Amino acid sequence: MNIAIVGAQWGDEGKGKIVDLLTPHFSIVARYQGGHNAGHTVFTEGRRIVLHLLPSGILHPEVDCVVGNGVVVDPQALFAEIEMLRSHGIEVGNRLLISEKAHLILPYHRELELLAEARRGEHRIGTTSRGIGPAYEDKVGRRGVRVCDLYDPDGLAEGVRENVEARNRLIADAGLDWRAVYDALLAAGERMRPWVGDVTLFLTRAFSVGRSALFEGAQGTLLDIDHGTYPFVTSSSASVGGVCTGLGLGPRAVHGVLGIAKAYTTRVGEGPLPTEVHGAEADRLRETGQEFGASTGRPRRCGWYDAVAVRYAARVNGLDALAVTKLDVLDGLPQVPLCTGYRCGGDVIADFPADLRQLAACKPVLDTMPGWSAPTRGARRYGDLPQEARDYIERLEEISGVPVSIISTGSDRDDTIVREDSVAARWLARFPIPPYSAPRT
Ligand code: IMP
Repeated sequence: MNIAIVGAQWGDEGKGKIVDLLTPHFSIVARYQGGHNAGHTVFTEGRRIVLHLLPSGILHPEVDCVVGNGVVVDPQALFAEIEMLRSHGIEVGNRLLISEKAHLILPYHRELELLAEARRGEHRIGTTSRGIGPAYEDKVGRRGVRVCDLYDPDGLAEGVRENVEARNRLIADAGLDWRAVYDALLAAGERMRPWVGDVTLFLTRAFSVGRSALFEGAQGTLLDIDHGTYPFVTSSSASVGGVCTGLGLGPRAVHGVLGIAKAYTTRVGEGPLPTEVHGAEADRLRETGQEFGASTGRPRRCGWYDAVAVRYAARVNGLDALAVTKLDVLDGLPQVPLCTGYRCGGDVIADFPADLRQLAACKPVLDTMPGWSAPTRGARRYGDLPQEARDYIERLEEISGVPVSIISTGSDRDDTIVREDSVAARWLARFPIPPYSAPRT
């Protein structure tokens, strides 16, 4: 049985930690969208490891990791990550499978992105400058270069030449030599060859012999290209629909969906954040929560928990349960505000508007819960939380419309509560840690 992990806010919800926590119950972890714009932070054996492109499951030696066709792959970022893992004593070996249909991020995609952002001026999106958007643009424009093209030298030469010439026309003083790009890609293809294959075939065969997978989403629902705060979004399907298109699976391959939400809200980059706070309130959340981008180091914008956004994410993803992370960051606050609706003109709306002009005219309706003075940090059982913290969690469930199964109370893997009899507890009980050793095909 397979579970999808998706961000229920604007990314950076703490998906890496939750994936890492659940991974021992699964034998495969698969990324289905995004690229090395993601930054999944995992604290393990006293080390902080940030994964950008590879699934977080790679830290578990018995787990196979898949990079699906919906992911955009920068070969140099891939090699750098493999080297980074090696420096921590973690070998990727034959545990990695990259879809031959995945599109490549080429060296000039980053420059095109910087140019596009500069042209947008004050309307810039605040992207991660990893070339993600231009790579997806090439994919949808049907001129992209895919991993399988690396093994067709003539076709690759033609594709790269056309793309580089088009790019040279776009950037007046670029003067990029297509042959240099081509040679680098051929070399990258050779290095990647052991890991390239048919992901759909691998997964369906694996499922047929009883293996189970975690589908690891990157970014979050409000950054999804279709369902997010467009155009201030990433360029991929960050919600659960991306699992099917990004791995080549039917919807029945997803047996459960776990949404990850922080106990408050953050966002990196531009675009609406209805519950945003500024000044001392924001500084406190940012400093206590260490809210600085794992990929870019940018300070994250901070705000209170937004139940309108999470309810929306619950609907878009069909969430079965929520994992609420960073509860401990709220420790010591005298009161904890949370947003139950948006006031637009004379009306209070409960649904997330599609039109950003309407959203901009909305003000959050804030409810205030009493804070807690005893720390939640490091708590491992629900009963160990102060009563006010439990009341806060139960209010989140009520206004978000999703049961909270998991609560994270610190960065360590063990600083986590899996509530008894919760949806996630039942999943984990059904998926015993698998002693899998069947051959990979
Ligand atoms: P891009 O994905 O680099 O094109 O950036 C588009 C938007 O998504 C920007 O606002 C980024 O800050 C945001 N974004 C991309 N990846 C992440 C992530 O992993 N966490 C949070 N925000 C992200």
